[in-house]
Amino acid sequence: MTKAIRTVAIVGAGLVGSGWAIVFARAGLEVKLYDVDAGIRNHVPAFLKGALEDMQGAGLVDKVDEVLARIEVVDTLEAAVTPAQYVQESVFERVDIKKQISLRIDAAMDSAAVVGSSSSGIPGSAFTEECTNRSRFLVVHPVNPPHLVPVVEIVPAPWTDTDVVTIANDLMSLVGQVPVLVRREIEGFILNRLQGALLNEAWALFEDGYASAADIDKTVAYGLGLRWSFMGPFETIDLNAPGGLKDYAERLAPLYHRIAQSRPTARAWSQEAIAAADAERRVALPAGDLAARREWRDAYLMRLAAFREKQEG
Ligand SMILES: NC(=O)c1ccc[n+]([C@@H]2O[C@H](COP(=O)([O-])OP(=O)(O)OC[C@H]3O[C@@H](n4cnc5c(N)ncnc54)[C@H](O)[C@@H]3O)[C@@H](O)[C@H]2O)c1
Repeated sequence: MTKAIRTVAIVGAGLVGSGWAIVFARAGLEVKLYDVDAGIRNHVPAFLKGALEDMQGAGLVDKVDEVLARIEVVDTLEAAVTPAQYVQESVFERVDIKKQISLRIDAAMDSAAVVGSSSSGIPGSAFTEECTNRSRFLVVHPVNPPHLVPVVEIVPAPWTDTDVVTIANDLMSLVGQVPVLVRREIEGFILNRLQGALLNEAWALFEDGYASAADIDKTVAYGLGLRWSFMGPFETIDLNAPGGLKDYAERLAPLYHRIAQSRPTARAWSQEAIAAADAERRVALPAGDLAARREWRDAYLMRLAAFREKQEG
């Protein structure tokens, strides 16, 4: 079935939607890209060209013009969705907007097509229930920017057909992403729940004055994150005790239990802590330099992706 996917529609051409266009087009698929905002539609071709040229510079793409030629920006949702065998919805993260756009996609789609939502944390069942083709909808959650960070969370709603899960999974592998299956819906899925656990602890340590934001960041950038860029927490602990994971658990499970017990109640990120962390960040990086630093991040990710391609073949 995945082989039958030749045309992909992308609805919403912001940060994530435009990255998705690169993912599918570089894998040889035809892409129809639609955004409700004409300004975005006009701007997106130049953005795609720039991003692909940067990727070419990093050795990640061969022929920029051929990839670009496979992406067509269209003026209506129907022009994107009706000819597509797969639709990637990438509009704002709001239930009402996701509901409305899912119904519009539902009305325009081929009933055999599959619709993946880029939703970062809202489960599909919150916005696809009323769709006639609801068994063809699921969440296919990328990381930003999807053309540089390959993992994708596949999250079926209770009414998603099992063959739709298989199609989405196989399509993601085919286009070079790394799919992970979230077996049943949970807010935030896996990725943002893990990120949330780390962020919540980082905020608490910062607010209680244990360390600066910069030193907490260094702990990840020059410590935990080095291993995490190529292995997860379970493999990390498996290698961090002579006898493997079980040995690690015997030595350190009580420590982690005491840490968990030390935070028995959930703590909201306080306005005071946000203001203090923001002040520290704006000294380290003035607001006017944020865009340039994002470009620096993306160039770094490209070099890392090229390095990983060499390591992993
Ligand atoms: N930015 C991230 O880090 C990230 C990562 C993973 C997933 N996501 C998810 O991807 C989705 C898109 O996020 P983003 O960061 O690209 O946002 P964005 O604001 O950059 O882009 C959203 C786009 O959707 C368009 N849009 C809104 N309503 C529309 C409609 N009715 N029809 C067509 N287009 C419409 C907007 O004009 C805008 O260009 C969200 O669900 C978000 O949670 C974001």
